[in-house]
Amino acid sequence: MRMLEIRTPARYPVCIGSGLLEKAVQNAPEGPKAVLYDLKVERFADEAAQKLGIEHKLGLQGGEDTKTLAVFARCQSWLAQAALPRNAVLYVIGGGTLTDLGGYVAASYLRGIRYISLPTTTLAVVDASVGGKTGLNLPEGKNLMGAFHSPAAVYSDTGPLATLPTTLFKEGLVEAFKHGMIAGDPSLLDLSRLAPDYEGLEDYLAKAVSVKIDIVEKDPTEQGERRKLNLGHTLAHGLEAATRHALSHGAAVAYGLLFAALLGRKLGGQDLVPTVQKLMAWLEPAPLPIIHWDALLPYLARDKKKLGNDVHWVVPKDLGRLEIGPVAEETLRETHRELLSLTS
Ligand code: GLY
Repeated sequence: MRMLEIRTPARYPVCIGSGLLEKAVQNAPEGPKAVLYDLKVERFADEAAQKLGIEHKLGLQGGEDTKTLAVFARCQSWLAQAALPRNAVLYVIGGGTLTDLGGYVAASYLRGIRYISLPTTTLAVVDASVGGKTGLNLPEGKNLMGAFHSPAAVYSDTGPLATLPTTLFKEGLVEAFKHGMIAGDPSLLDLSRLAPDYEGLEDYLAKAVSVKIDIVEKDPTEQGERRKLNLGHTLAHGLEAATRHALSHGAAVAYGLLFAALLGRKLGGQDLVPTVQKLMAWLEPAPLPIIHWDALLPYLARDKKKLGNDVHWVVPKDLGRLEIGPVAEETLRETHRELLSLTS
């Protein structure tokens, strides 16, 4: 078991390893409890609820369609009908969509109660469960509503990862690869041996999470340093929105990283394209949708509205060396053409 800790803006442990449900039970805080879980991991959630002595349970279908105002309202009413008080603890068990939704439910109910995450996908272990970003999608775009609300603890039990379809297992690790590019850590870029039964998995995940912890501690609310974690995500969110999520997040981020590497090379940086191509060969993502640059622009403009006048791109100039800022429209357009021809 690897035990990491985030020290700011709130101090909480992030534990990674097998059999961690027992540790979550041993360290359960006082107070009434409820559990919000993804129906895909119902057996694990039932075991957790039974061991934690929780009777208030709500199972939801995970996925982006769950991060809506309607589902959020249903969760608030569920907690209210159970009359859970302000010292209650919400356990959230599932992938990134559940930890995003559940964290925001906890941030809002009675103006904020504690929550404890038990992420059950590689994506949630490496990224979504750590750092306190919680929220919902709106019809206008992804993650447009939410709050920073730190969990009281994160228990990443590697047991449920063995039940993930291989595609989902691999797609979550694209975020770990991204952390490798950000930190300049080649050991995070070698995904070849990673599988649920690989003995080095726990160490690998811990190393990937440590990169995120270092960044979040420096910049919990994304004023500067944390923007590095958006590497590959500007194009990825555009691709996801333009395809109405037919292209999965992991595949979209992989294409976003390849785009970023092409952009970095075009702007005079080291050639990281072969590095990202190794990721693509390992991941074997669904084909890149042929979407004209002009059709992607409205979705990128949503990022632009969040950032002021220009979309800010995270451009890798080398492993561990990123530049963030606007990029000329023609350069982006050419890079998109290169991406399409490289992946066709
Ligand atoms: N997923 C990016 C972040 O937490 O900032």
